[in-house]
Amino acid sequence: MLENVESLMLEYVSDVDTHARSLYEKIPKGKRLRAKLVLKIAPEASESVKLAAIVELIHAASLLHDDVIDEATTRRGIPSINATHDSKTAVMLGDILYSKAFCELTAFSPFVARKIADAVTKLSAGELLDVEYSKALQLNEEKYFDMIYKKTAVLIEATAASAAALAGKESAAFGLYGKNLGLAFQIIDDVLDITSDSEKLGKPVLADFKEGKTTLPYIYLYRTLNDADRQKLIQLYRKELETGEALWIKQKMQESGAVMKSIALAQELGREALDAIASDKNHALEKVITDMIEREF
Ligand code: FPP
Ligand code: MG
Repeated sequence: MLENVESLMLEYVSDVDTHARSLYEKIPKGKRLRAKLVLKIAPEASESVKLAAIVELIHAASLLHDDVIDEATTRRGIPSINATHDSKTAVMLGDILYSKAFCELTAFSPFVARKIADAVTKLSAGELLDVEYSKALQLNEEKYFDMIYKKTAVLIEATAASAAALAGKESAAFGLYGKNLGLAFQIIDDVLDITSDSEKLGKPVLADFKEGKTTLPYIYLYRTLNDADRQKLIQLYRKELETGEALWIKQKMQESGAVMKSIALAQELGREALDAIASDKNHALEKVITDMIEREF
């Protein structure tokens, strides 16, 4: 089924022109979490593959733009399109992918079309918040959650709710599952930026703080530090880190329990996600949660 999604994505982009197609083929595929979700929530629905392809094209577009915004030069272990080509190419390929996705979305029910379209508006608002919050140390937990909800969870929430609608299942319950899965997913992403290594991640480690992103583990860490260490952390903000400084952050993150506390919260959100759809008894969706929390990249 996932192969059908890949084929349809390629078919959609090929409909545009050969140049778009050849650029698209250079993008590594990624985890396809959103597509898997659709296929697991609505395996029997005739429109599942289409919805999965549309959502993945939107997600791919958002990452093309995100790498331009973050000035990132790698994505999934290889140079990003903005690095191999230029920012103009990455922005326009992103525009092609998401406008083509929207074109195909018009064939869906108004409920699904509006859910996905509204999610993309929020996604963009979330990215704008991320840009805003990256200008200075942002230690407010509520603002962090509002931003990651919009930037990451909203599209996963809309995908799950839409897939449920296609399958005639309770849309709100699956939306809640998707929302909590999305929040947990972003927290784990933020933890891995600190605990993982660049080979597994496919991008440099400790990149978030350097890009100006004060993620949840940093918010928790700051609270536990004494004045001297707080000053030290503030000085490392947005800085190209020396080996010793990177080590200091990694050590403090473990010692203070900031990493553990963040993982515990992601696990709690994972439990809440499963509670929302408990009556569905869908083991595949339980596995999505455990795999996501235990992942290494
Ligand atoms: C990755 O965040 C970015 C996102 C999940 C969303 C990006 C959204 C936009 C650019 C809005 C525009 C939308 C469209 C459809 C064109 P990150 O930088 O924290 O993660 P990373 O480490 O994977 O880059
Ligand atoms: Mg980024």
